[in-house]
Amino acid sequence: MAEKPMQAVQYNSYGGGASGLKHVEVPVPTPKNNEVLIKLEAISINPVDWKIQKGTDVAGEIVEVGAQVKDFKVGDKVIAKLTHQYGGGLAEFAVASESLTAARPSEVSAAEAASLPIAGLTARDALTEIGGVKLDGTGEPKNVLVTAASGGVGVFAVQLAKLGNNHVTATCGTRNIDIVKSLGADEVLDYKTPEGVALKSPSGKKYDVVINCTTGIPWSTFDTNLTEKGVVIDLTPGPSSMLTFALKKVTFSKKRLVPFIVNVKREGLEYLTQLVKEGKLKIIIDSKFPLSKAEDAWAKSIDGHATGKIVVEQ
Ligand SMILES: NC(=O)c1ccc[n+]([C@@H]2O[C@H](COP(=O)([O-])OP(=O)(O)OC[C@H]3O[C@@H](n4cnc5c(N)ncnc54)[C@H](OP(=O)(O)O)[C@@H]3O)[C@@H](O)[C@H]2O)c1
Repeated sequence: MAEKPMQAVQYNSYGGGASGLKHVEVPVPTPKNNEVLIKLEAISINPVDWKIQKGTDVAGEIVEVGAQVKDFKVGDKVIAKLTHQYGGGLAEFAVASESLTAARPSEVSAAEAASLPIAGLTARDALTEIGGVKLDGTGEPKNVLVTAASGGVGVFAVQLAKLGNNHVTATCGTRNIDIVKSLGADEVLDYKTPEGVALKSPSGKKYDVVINCTTGIPWSTFDTNLTEKGVVIDLTPGPSSMLTFALKKVTFSKKRLVPFIVNVKREGLEYLTQLVKEGKLKIIIDSKFPLSKAEDAWAKSIDGHATGKIVVEQ
């Protein structure tokens, strides 16, 4: 397999954004001892992908396994999160670490599975690890705010918070209000209205947990809307939020801002695919593109107005 050429889309360092992507022919990669070679069927795009110029969330079929791979065999349908040291998922084949690969149940399509890793696990782990939300409903119900609830992360955050019987307020644009409600949000704020800008819950609720999927909302806006021990989980930490994080820490403030970066593990991939299989988690796909039009998918993601996930199918 190693000498065979494959179609791939790579970043050309002379160009930025979607125009920096070039269609090339490269050798099919060879899996190392603890890796699998996957014939890709679908990948989904995350903002982090165009920030680092690689696609990382993939689904496909294993066509070769490394000598020490124990849990997978040729022919298995899988979902994986690629690591950054290799070429990305905009290709016909990719190698993935066994530890970041999980079986894909037949009830979950390749496009659905590829939509899960980064976006789904960011939502789950931010809610549970930082927000203290229990997804099985055994915890004390919390008031959760999800900003940009129509985006790749937001659609998962709303659904997962509801699975745990929490009260969810969500922000999104006018055109996505119905879809965000259909995912279970109890209250939806249009982010371009004064109430949306102020993040005011229509029922007057203060938030215990905020999953902040946007940038540019000042701390003062969160502050007035948080409960005494409320936490804002910042998925896009910049200098201003890092300063707030440090200030809240040194002043022993009960209200907190916590920067969060997801760490994808196989357990998380298995957890989410199981929820999809059981019909408890819906995948919202904004649009699908063939590999030959990968740059259009890239441009759509950079544009920042997707509803759910953008998928490239091989
Ligand atoms: N820290 C981590 O580990 C991690 C992991 C994943 C993602 N992220 C980051 O989290 C952010 C969100 O990612 P994503 O994949 O969800 O992005 P996305 O899918 O590109 O988000 C697009 C959606 O956000 C909505 N939106 C944009 N600005 C908004 C605002 N001010 N208020 C409400 N909705 C708004 C858009 O609605 P309209 O079209 O109506 O404007 C659109 O539906 C990105 O910055 C990403 O880099 C971080």
